[in-house]
Formats: sequence, C-alpha cells, structure tokens
Amino acid sequence: MTTYSLLILPGDGIGPEVMAEVRKVIGWFEQNRGLSFDVSEDLVGGAAYDAHGVPLADATMAKAQQVDAVLLGAVGGPKYDNLDFSVKPERGLLRLRKEMDLFANLRPAQCFDALADFSSLKREVVAGLDILIVRELTSGVYFGEPRGIHDDGNNPENEGGRVGINTQRYTSGEIRRVARAAFELARKRGNRVCSMEKANVMESGILWREEVQWVHDNEYPDVELSHMYADNGAMQLVRNPRQFDVIVTDNLFGDLLSDAAAMLTGSLGMLPSASLGAPMANGRPKAMYEPVHGSAPDIAGQGKANPIACILSFAMALRYSYDLGAEADLLEKAVEKVLAEGVRTADLMGPQGGTPVSTAEMGDHVVKALSAL
Ligand code: NAD
Ligand code: IPM
Ligand code: MN
Repeated sequence: MTTYSLLILPGDGIGPEVMAEVRKVIGWFEQNRGLSFDVSEDLVGGAAYDAHGVPLADATMAKAQQVDAVLLGAVGGPKYDNLDFSVKPERGLLRLRKEMDLFANLRPAQCFDALADFSSLKREVVAGLDILIVRELTSGVYFGEPRGIHDDGNNPENEGGRVGINTQRYTSGEIRRVARAAFELARKRGNRVCSMEKANVMESGILWREEVQWVHDNEYPDVELSHMYADNGAMQLVRNPRQFDVIVTDNLFGDLLSDAAAMLTGSLGMLPSASLGAPMANGRPKAMYEPVHGSAPDIAGQGKANPIACILSFAMALRYSYDLGAEADLLEKAVEKVLAEGVRTADLMGPQGGTPVSTAEMGDHVVKALSAL
C-alpha cells in the first residue's frame, strides 16, 4: 500500500489551532478510505525561534526536502515583532519556499454559493466566482539583491541619514517557468491567462510581459492571453472579478492581489494555497501547502479561527502531491455541504448575525459531512 509522507508545520498563533482540524480530516481518510499517511510534525516561525533560536532549524529544512508534501499553518505574531530581521518568523517560511524552489504559488479564490452574501461585495458580483492566482514565489523584490538598510553617509539632503533598499529582479528563465505553470493550469480550466505587471514603469515589468508573451506564442498559442497593469488588475478584481480565469503575476503583486481576492470569497479564513516546484523523482512536484492567511494574533487562542483555508490546503495536497483527485473533490464537497447547512465560524458572520461555531466544531462538521457524502 502507498504511504503518503506529510510534514506538518503548525507554526504560530492560530496555526496550531487550524492544524488540529486538518489532523481530524487526515484521521477520517485513514479510517474510512484506507489511506496511509506518514505524518511527522516540527516547528517553524516563532515556535522554532523559541526552541532553537532560529525560525527554521536545518534539520527541519532537511526533512521538508524529503517528504511528499509539507503543510504549514501560519507564522509570526507581535511577540516576535522586535526580533532581528534575520530570525523573524517570516524568514523561516521564506527559507522553505526558496530552498525548496517553490516557484509557482497557486491561490485559488472560489466563492461558495452559500457565502455569496458574506462577501463585502454584492452577490451578483461574486456568485460563482472561480479564479486562480498564480504568484511567482521565489524571486522578485522578496529576494533580489542588493537589499538592506544602510547609512547614507553624511548626506545633508537626507533627513535621518538612512537608506532602505530592496531590488525587484527577474530573469527570463524565472518568468518563463511560472508562465508555463499558469498556461498548463489554464488548459485544465477556462483556458485564459491574464498576466499582471507594471510594464509602464518597471523594466522588470517589460521583461515579464515579453517573456510571458514568448511562452504563449511558442508553446501555448491555444490559450487566450491578455496583459494588464497590476494596479488596474486590483481595481478590476473588485469591479468584476469573474472576468478572470487564471492570473499570473510576480511575488509582491501576487501577495497583494491574493489578499484582495480573499475578500471576494467572504473571508481570508477560506483561502488555501499550494506552492509547487519542479517534479521530484516520483513525478509529483516538490510542494508545500499553506493557507493564505497569517497567524491572526487578534483571535489566536480563542477558538475562533476558521480552519477551512487549512483544510482546503490539505485538499490541494491530496490533488497535487498524492494524485488523489477524487479524495480532494470529496473534501471540497464536504466543506461546501457544511457551508450550505449554514455552519459558520465568526469571520463568516454576515450582517444577519447568528451564532458562530468554534474552530473545533467547524472541523467536526467537516468530518461529519465527509461521512455523510
Ligand atoms: P492575518 O492573516 O494573520 O490576519 C488578518 C485578519 O484576518 C485578522 O483580523 C485575522 O483575525 C483575520 N483572519 C486571518 N485568518 C483567519 C482565519 N483563519 N479565521 C478567521 N479570521 C482570520 O494577517 P496580519 O494580521 O497582517 O499578520 C499577522 C502575522 O501573520 C504577521 O506576523 C504576519 O507576518 C504573519 N503572516 C503570516 C502568513 C503565513 O504564515 N503564511 C501570512 C500572512 C501573514
Ligand atoms: C503570504 C504572507 C508571506 C508573504 C509573509 C508572511 C512572508 O504574507 O504568504 O502571503 O509575504 O509571502
Ligand atoms: Mn500575504
């Protein structure tokens, strides 16, 4: 029997709370579908800093390189805000992405019908929404050199005397590989890709546009490609999000646009993601799965967090890392069923109000729905 290896990194804040609910889901698949998961757990972020003085231990990094998939909760929190930049919790997450070379970050935003009234936008704008943001994840201004904060000598024209530098840098190869990922995914969906950059003000944006167009013309002429400036893209996402199928964009624009897209679905607590790299020996991509949301310090420890983003991230692992598409569909249907029944965590309370369920209760409902389907 195939055993699927999974490294769980709960992290900080609500990370461990939502991960406990994924554990229930994994248990259900083991007991009811005869699947066998080899689950190990380790520390990342502030939790790793507290234990080891670094946000990701080398041993954890090595483990992440070996498993079929990594599932990460969230990192960060006010307790760690004043740490040196090099050991901040977020550095642990960025190290995982970079060293595993997870260049394609898939952030689907789907509006479940039952939640169409909970978005901050009108039902007619978001109902039936199903878009996929493909965010480049291992380059751009997040990693470009030079970077840092340094003294500006005794420059009399610079009050404060300091300079902060980050560099937006993309190679053609980095753009081409993420563009390919987006075109491949588009072929399995609506066959349309919209590429977003700011070619009007950035050379890296001009290169981005040219290289995406090159990949299209040479390898995917059958897919419909359009280009949009990212600021207009942000506006269009809120004005008429259903005009999009797949959006491909750089690391920073993708970060912002996917948070905006989250609200189209009702809550940041709903949005899963998959970060994929090159294929491993078994033919499946190297992969880490994580909700789009963070550690939510404002609600951590209160049992209020919505575990659906993390549960749906595990569904993406079933699909992309374990080739268990039917099981992924089943889990997504279970979530849909629970929402259709009116079960809501606090973040999904609309203007009508009602009584929210806790994180653990939401997990229990999903497991019950799995059995009922
Ligand atoms: P956040 O995503 O943690 O929270 C933003 C808002 O959304 C908060 O009001 C929060 O309560 C709410 N929210 C988020 N997830 C929720 C869920 N599952 N259920 C219900 N409500 C939810 O973003 P932030 O406050 O800007 O950042 C907090 C910390 O998390 C920072 O240290 C940041 O760097 C980190 N962060 C980590 C990740 C990650 O680990 N992938 C992602 C984003 C932010
Ligand atoms: C995300 C987060 C991360 C990012 C942070 C925590 C490093 O906001 O995954 O969206 O900026 O990529
Ligand atoms: Mn983000």
